[in-house]
Amino acid sequence: MKPVRVLFVCLGNICRSPLAEGVLRERAIEKGLASWLKVDSAGTGAWHIGDPPDRRSIAVARRHGIDISGLSGRQVRAEDFSGFDLILGMDEDNVAMLKRLAPAGTADKVQLFLGYATGRSQNVPDPYYEGADAFEALYQMLDAGCSSLLERLGERTS
Ligand code: 4NP
Repeated sequence: MKPVRVLFVCLGNICRSPLAEGVLRERAIEKGLASWLKVDSAGTGAWHIGDPPDRRSIAVARRHGIDISGLSGRQVRAEDFSGFDLILGMDEDNVAMLKRLAPAGTADKVQLFLGYATGRSQNVPDPYYEGADAFEALYQMLDAGCSSLLERLGERTS
C-alpha cells in the first residue's frame, strides 16, 4: 500500500508541529503502521529555519518517551503541496496562510488538524509565549488528536 504522507504545519515549526510529528510517528510505530505513514513538519514563518524544536517541546516529548531533539525547523515550500497528501495546520491562521500558498488544485489537501482528525473544529493554540504547563496541555491535545488521526487515516485506506 502507498504510504499516506502527512505534513503538520504551525507558525514557527519549533513548538507545535515538530511535537505533533514526533507523537504521530511514535504512535504509528507502536501500531505497526510506520511503513504506511510518512510524516514531516514545517512552519509558515522563516524565523526558525535550521533550529531544533523549542526546548519546552523537546522536554515534554522526552517526559512521554519521545525524542524530537534531532528535528530541524524548515519553512513550507511549494513542492510540499505535491509531496504530501494531507497538510494539517495547527490553527486557523496556519490554514489560511497555507490556502494562500497552495498551488491551483491542491487547496483541498489543507485542513485544520483537529477538525480533520476529530470532526470538531478546534485550534491547537500557540504556546510560544506561555509557561511550561501549556506544553503538557499541548502534548495531551496533540496525543489525542494523533490517535484520532490514525483512526481516520485507517478508514481512508480500508
Ligand atoms: P509554533 O510556535 O508555531 O508552535 O512553532 C511559535 C514559535 C515561534 C514563534 C511563534 C510561534 N515566533 O514568533 O518566533
